[in-house]
Amino acid sequence: MEKQNWSGGALLAPVPPVLVTCGTMENPNILTVGWTGIINTIPPKTYISIRPERYSYTKIRDSGEFVINLSTTALVRAVDFCGVRSGRQIDKFAATGLTPLPASKLKCPLLAQSPLSLECRIFEQIDLGSHSMFLADIVAVDVDKSLIDHSGKLHLDRAQLLAYAHGEYFSLGEKLGTFGFSVRKKPYYTHPTTQASRNRSDSKSGYGHSKRNPKTGSKNTSVKKIAKKQPKA
Ligand SMILES: Cc1cc2nc3c(=O)[nH]c(=O)nc-3n(C[C@H](O)[C@H](O)[C@H](O)COP(=O)(O)O)c2cc1C
Repeated sequence: MEKQNWSGGALLAPVPPVLVTCGTMENPNILTVGWTGIINTIPPKTYISIRPERYSYTKIRDSGEFVINLSTTALVRAVDFCGVRSGRQIDKFAATGLTPLPASKLKCPLLAQSPLSLECRIFEQIDLGSHSMFLADIVAVDVDKSLIDHSGKLHLDRAQLLAYAHGEYFSLGEKLGTFGFSVRKKPYYTHPTTQASRNRSDSKSGYGHSKRNPKTGSKNTSVKKIAKKQPKA
């Protein structure tokens, strides 16, 4: 691959174009944020980077709270709208038909139409240049009940999450694997030396070591479990 060298730029992609709610239930605001991510697993911590000129900036800084609401393909127009119109001029909830809901741990509302909301309490602010970064503890998570099955497992793949890359919005494509699938051990079959079993394990998994169906990611129940549980990021 021949490369052209550029000076540094904010070109990480894709990013989640999340809807950040702030303010109070009586006086809420909402804005779109692309500069966000998880920065620690235990305890769970996140950040958002906001330009000081945003109407939301003072609300977030002064309250010490915000909610990150994951966005979906159904919300794409609202995501764009909330990222190009300011709460200084209009009520974005009224304009988009979005609904604020009371959060469990914060005064700031969450978004009814979002499948998953992270309630965040700020513990540090770092001014970086164009943006000010708010680092926050994720103090609660609110999940759409229809994405949780009877055993309590969350099916985020059913949420139709939205992605943003270099000025364009995208839906997510097909599932290509699950965490750790590339290093799972070769399945052990009753007759492991037969050509048929070799074909079954080698054909689609890339490295021939998957004990899951490479298309669906579901466990192949005909194989003995030999792969060790992989640590989560
Ligand atoms: C896809 C997308 C991502 C954005 N990401 C950010 C961001 O990370 N930080 C930021 O300050 N503004 C970001 N913006 C711009 C703000 O959402 C926009 O200026 C908004 O109108 C601010 O609303 P407010 O004035 O009501 O606070 C983004 C806009 C879009 C469309």
